[in-house]
Amino acid sequence: MSDKRFTMGVLGLGEGRSILSAALNSPYWTVGNICDLNEDLCRERMEEFHLSRYTTQYEEMLADPSIDVIGIYTPDQLHAQHIKMALEAGKDVLCTKPLMVNLDDANALLECQKRTGRIVFVGQSSRYFEPAQRQRADYEEGRLGNLIAVEAHYITDARWFLERDWSHRPGFSWMYNFMIHAVDLAAWYLPDVSEVYGVGAVNDNTRACGLSVPDTLRFLFKEESTGRFATVGGAYASPALGSGIEQSISCTLRGDKGASRAGYPKLKYEHHFDHNGHHVETFDDRHSYYFRFEGETHHAGEYQNYIEQMARDMLAGRTPKPDLKEAIHTLAIMEAMEQSMETGKPVRVEDVLRDRNICL
Ligand SMILES: NC(=O)c1ccc[n+]([C@@H]2O[C@H](COP(=O)([O-])OP(=O)(O)OC[C@H]3O[C@@H](n4cnc5c(N)ncnc54)[C@H](O)[C@@H]3O)[C@@H](O)[C@H]2O)c1
Repeated sequence: MSDKRFTMGVLGLGEGRSILSAALNSPYWTVGNICDLNEDLCRERMEEFHLSRYTTQYEEMLADPSIDVIGIYTPDQLHAQHIKMALEAGKDVLCTKPLMVNLDDANALLECQKRTGRIVFVGQSSRYFEPAQRQRADYEEGRLGNLIAVEAHYITDARWFLERDWSHRPGFSWMYNFMIHAVDLAAWYLPDVSEVYGVGAVNDNTRACGLSVPDTLRFLFKEESTGRFATVGGAYASPALGSGIEQSISCTLRGDKGASRAGYPKLKYEHHFDHNGHHVETFDDRHSYYFRFEGETHHAGEYQNYIEQMARDMLAGRTPKPDLKEAIHTLAIMEAMEQSMETGKPVRVEDVLRDRNICL
């Protein structure tokens, strides 16, 4: 008998390819059905992963009682609607980042989740690459002493992303699609961020595509309850220095007994703890686990790590994190960041939540 405990239906088969590989290689998961509006892509994925069926109708997948969890990998602007449909159909939800592209649907989703009692887990993949997991474990074991500050960035030349039609539709922004990785890492360590301040610029490469969303951004987050702070950066529409010099994703923690840095896509973890010296760990033997297709712009390994965490949490009766409330808090931080760029002033996260009538 199979020990696979959970059956996933996957919606959106572009990056959804990575979650298919993740689920099919996981001892906890199997795939019940796949769905995309693009029938050619459905057939391609069905053949690639030796699946027996597909559908182009989301409703058909939702009506299938054998499916426990819907994995949502559709364009950012559609997540809120697709999550709501899944919850109403009695399914638990795994949704890729960003949960939503603003807070407009936050209260409706909170109400829907409360009423249906289902799980909403957000696939913040950057928490789940090997160096980030090691860094978190050392932090939780107290090896850094008291945390003082966090430096997180996501910097990548992502002009290729503007080939996607939905990157030109309202709701797309570099912040919500890309920078959320760095924001989430900072908020993971500073869960009580109270105030943000920052600047953003739009360069000609973004403008040439008819967009006016900031592509180069720097922020300061303050956590008043602890006195800790974070710097958070991003740059998406200009040449990057390359991962040999500057990792795309980097998270540095500074504590009074140690410092650590986790980087991606070069899987590298550096740390220096008092009395233990400087160490650099690389995970070259894990490269093929994390990157299963061409190049390094997909995230199959991180996805397998997060769905296995999700499965373990569900089996233990724990809520997999980040959950809906945590993800909405992160989006409130991002709305505060947008307001700070507009006003040139620090913005309090609680003011954003109050103005939106959101109670977490
Ligand atoms: N590291 C990460 O976590 C990570 C990495 C890449 C992409 N993503 C996220 O994954 C999502 C998808 O990105 P992508 O790069 O695969 O985009 P994509 O455009 O390649 O794929 C989206 C797919 O959704 C399908 N689709 C659109 N509307 C649909 C509908 N109503 N019903 C069924 N299918 C529908 C499209 O046909 C398309 O195949 C985005 O939210 C993106 O932010 C996350």
